[in-house]
Amino acid sequence: MAQKEKAREKKTFLEIEDLPSVGQVTAEKLREIGYSTVEALATATVAELAAAGIGEKKAAEIIAAARQAIEISWVTAKDLASLRVNVGRITTGCKQLDALIGGGVETQSITEFYGEFGSGKSQLCHQLAVCVQLPPEAGGLNGSALYIDTENTFRTERIEKIAKRFGLDFDEVSRRIVYAEAYTSDHQMLLLEKSDKVIKENNVRLIIIDSLTSHFRSEYIGRQTLAERQQKLNKHLHKLIRLARAFNAAAVVTNQVMARPDEFFSTAAVSPVGGHIVGHTSHTRVFLRKSVGRNIRIARLVSSPYLPEGEAVFKITENGVEDVEEDDLKSR
Ligand code: GTP
Ligand code: MG
Repeated sequence: MAQKEKAREKKTFLEIEDLPSVGQVTAEKLREIGYSTVEALATATVAELAAAGIGEKKAAEIIAAARQAIEISWVTAKDLASLRVNVGRITTGCKQLDALIGGGVETQSITEFYGEFGSGKSQLCHQLAVCVQLPPEAGGLNGSALYIDTENTFRTERIEKIAKRFGLDFDEVSRRIVYAEAYTSDHQMLLLEKSDKVIKENNVRLIIIDSLTSHFRSEYIGRQTLAERQQKLNKHLHKLIRLARAFNAAAVVTNQVMARPDEFFSTAAVSPVGGHIVGHTSHTRVFLRKSVGRNIRIARLVSSPYLPEGEAVFKITENGVEDVEEDDLKSR
């Protein structure tokens, strides 16, 4: 107990046991359901902790203690502005694309890249997993990436090329990408639910889910399953946003959509796979489409909390995702 008080005084709540109402048995229960850091507890709900067999009163106490430990409480708009100062950005490695989304992919929120097959969603994910590792002066956050791959499309060969392009050591870069393949939607949800410790230990500043929706789409077929699918997706996205906020990390998800040939150039021409819930929860949505040239892609900012809509052009090369030169456009 004396030790706990000492830890409290110094505000070094490194382990969940350091919280006043968390003993060893409770700590074990919490870890079992995926709460192994104070940050995750601070953003938990009473109902979630009650699921581990913790009484509601105690659950509320634990959450309050965790919030106090990391000082989450009511803030004024002025405080909020200074919180926003902590928001970091990760360069996409393309100047045009960065400009479109306000300087890069933002921490503490979700960015969704959606588009049809081959539109460059996974290539962008590979590139961001490298770029997050760059020092701030080069557009990165000096952090690691957590990569949840649902379609087995992650390739270290791509990472090697991209690392080389940015002058980074491949060995070092690959050590800082923490990877897991998700086999089902439940597995995907579980991976995220249990990720807080790995995020903290590895200084993860970018969480990638490529693709967010593929398992959900293939497992929940038919109208009668739609409500359940949306409910699960919603829960998954909530977990994601809470992790992004707790660890000041960027969250990037992909979502495949089918283009309808009759309205090819309109953003209304896609059927959103994740339905509207994905649309509401994502903070920044970028629609990717193929252009006339083979490697050229067009990104359209469809919704953002504060940026105007607009478009940017990029190309996919063996070195990743790059800015388009005038010559590329001439030859298309
Ligand atoms: P789905 O996951 O199927 O929905 O597609 P996606 O949007 O994730 O597509 P992805 O990011 O995988 O982009 C695929 C495109 O990248 C294809 O058109 C490939 O031609 C291109 N591509 C992938 N690897 C390379 C490479 O090494 N060199 C070049 N030049 N292009 C590549
Ligand atoms: Mg893909």
